[in-house]
Amino acid sequence: MAQQEDVFKKLVAHCKEYGFVFPSSEIYDGLGAVYDYGQNGVELKNNIKKYWWDAMVKLNDNVVGLDSAIFMHPTIWKASGHVDAFNDPLIDNKDSKKRYRADVLIEEQMAKFDDKIEKEINKAKKKFGDAFDEAQFRATNPNVLREQAKRDALHARFSKALNDNNLEELRQIIIDEEIVCPISGTKNWTEVRQFNLMFSTEMGSTADGAMKIYLRPETAQGIFVNFLNVQKTGRMKVPFGIAQIGKAFRNEIVARQFIFRMREFEQMEMQFFVRPGEEMKWFEYWKAFRLKWHKALGMGDENYQFHDHDKLAHYANAATDIEFRMPFGFKEVEGIHSRTDFDLSSHAKYSGKKIEYFDPELNKSYTPYVIETSIGVDRMFLSILAGAYKEEALEGGDTRVVLRLPAVLAPVKLAVLPLVKKDGLPEKAREIMNTMKLEFNCQYDEKDSIGKRYRRQDAIGTPFCVTVDHQTLEDNTVTVRYRDTMEQERVSVDTLHAMIAKQVTGAELFKKLLE
Ligand code: GAP
Repeated sequence: MAQQEDVFKKLVAHCKEYGFVFPSSEIYDGLGAVYDYGQNGVELKNNIKKYWWDAMVKLNDNVVGLDSAIFMHPTIWKASGHVDAFNDPLIDNKDSKKRYRADVLIEEQMAKFDDKIEKEINKAKKKFGDAFDEAQFRATNPNVLREQAKRDALHARFSKALNDNNLEELRQIIIDEEIVCPISGTKNWTEVRQFNLMFSTEMGSTADGAMKIYLRPETAQGIFVNFLNVQKTGRMKVPFGIAQIGKAFRNEIVARQFIFRMREFEQMEMQFFVRPGEEMKWFEYWKAFRLKWHKALGMGDENYQFHDHDKLAHYANAATDIEFRMPFGFKEVEGIHSRTDFDLSSHAKYSGKKIEYFDPELNKSYTPYVIETSIGVDRMFLSILAGAYKEEALEGGDTRVVLRLPAVLAPVKLAVLPLVKKDGLPEKAREIMNTMKLEFNCQYDEKDSIGKRYRRQDAIGTPFCVTVDHQTLEDNTVTVRYRDTMEQERVSVDTLHAMIAKQVTGAELFKKLLE
């Protein structure tokens, strides 16, 4: 675990050093849980968004896009339930004066049991080697069974407290589990209180009667309130979906772990409108499609898992998360929720407008049910970087830091490197670069030795380095050096474009999604 935390620290430092992520307002000592994306970060982020948008909107002919405003009528948040129920249960330690999310403290306690079980398993794996049967070990080893029983009991008690909204019980669990504040080391806890996560501001001058409005905590509501606009103008037939990418804001109290939990972040959400009664079929469909989308990136199938929610949100009748193995354990990257007809019905009630769909096949009107897929751009960014960051020992005692990013997401697709700064090589390299940059994000670099230049590109995840040498001037061939294998190959400049395009455009990945 300590080793993993170390890797995470290095990853955060790497993000800063190579222009991926900077703390916001850094020269003013930063602003908690707010970050800026640098020259490489913005490219990676844009590529993630494009991969999502194309997979959802381009590939599914019954999904269309939307870009709704961040500011919306305040009653929307009353109707959606966010004004009354978008809360976190908070607890303070009286000695350190630090504030925590009660549910997170308990989840961390459960993770400790998981760690103990994992340690027992790893010990046994080492001891028994190939003959090790994990399922049997889990079912019979007394230490594992003891820890598992404690974990299950805690889990059951915690889920019940959350579902009953029982704040006293949450506090009692913290006391009974002897959870201490990581700063003061004491168990001197306050009561648990609910805290609303929405930011608010005012619109209009006070003289005109300013209106309190909220910064949206999810992009989803912009989709619901435009349901009829899109359905009618696009002549959409249920089932169909509306997708949107945009900023969301939450006044998170436990804002830790870098860009994992931010106060200003970006979401990629899709609401899929279905006939009532068909929602479970579509829930399973989108679960499978979204997992495929993640796995197609080749970050390792074993690094993803589903995790069903212990407590359903106020709008949901089924919900699961897609989790990725981050350096600090498996964590939620995406949520898939069956939101029933809660949102559309509630907006109909609060707005006084009829929000229904006439189904020509059934010859009747109804309020559609909704399946939502919701993924954070920033969390996806973190998961990809965490999976891609590698420190590798090379032959000859050398080391390199490489980002093994999926080529389709890499900020820079190819670097064009003249071997020396003379003999017409820079001019030839510029000529190649000028054609390639019409389609790909390229970098030209002529400074330092070729080895150093390769390392700089490895560190930002550039999949291809194209080296121009004296032979290039004679036969129009270049050396392509591949980031992951570090192998080099001589290829004709004429074939370069097709070879790179095959790897860096989404088409190959999208074929996998349609299989
Ligand atoms: N519309 C449903 C919704 O917003 P959510 O589970 O609260 O559901 C969806 O959020 C996704 O948004 C999460 O899976 C996560 O990737 C991202 N997300 C939520 N809060 C975040 C935060 N504070 N910082 C970064 N990403 C966040």
